Amino acid sequence: MKAVIYPGSFDPVTLGHMDVIERASKMFDKVIVCILNNSQKKSPLFSLDERVNMLKEVTKGLDNVEVTSFEGLLVDFAKCTGVHIIIRGLREITDFANELKMAQGNHMVYPDFETLFIATDPKYSFVSSSMVREYASYGKPVKDFVPEIVQAKIEEKYI
Ligand code: PNS
Repeated sequence: MKAVIYPGSFDPVTLGHMDVIERASKMFDKVIVCILNNSQKKSPLFSLDERVNMLKEVTKGLDNVEVTSFEGLLVDFAKCTGVHIIIRGLREITDFANELKMAQGNHMVYPDFETLFIATDPKYSFVSSSMVREYASYGKPVKDFVPEIVQAKIEEKYI
């Protein structure tokens, strides 16, 4: 069985993430979406539980997608699950620079660990969770960037 991990902070999950999940679910027998902490991001908008629940909700139509979370290093999660291939979306060149470092670092500390990149659909190449959080914090609509359920949760936060 070919399984893959799709890690991220997903604060919140965007349509760009959904595109990667859907495409990965067609290429692999199983996709494990794993929510991890990003040390660069200090105060998340959504708690870990909220993010897990939103991701479960938006992926419920995809039978081979599982959602979970992990406290710690991605390589340790990979070791625990026995799945050592991860997938990351690439939106543009600065993503590539950061992702390459992460992929090489992870491979160095865990040589079985492999990172595959998927080119983001150009219509989502500018969409990021941080952009969504910023627009939302100023009351701007984010319906073009996130699944409907997530939009509703964002509105609840800011009402
Ligand atoms: O969605 P993001 O914020 O770009 O995802 C980044 C993430 C969570 C995949 C990355 O920060 C991560 O792997 N965090 C877990 C801790 C870890 O393994 N750090 C070493 C690699 S940077």
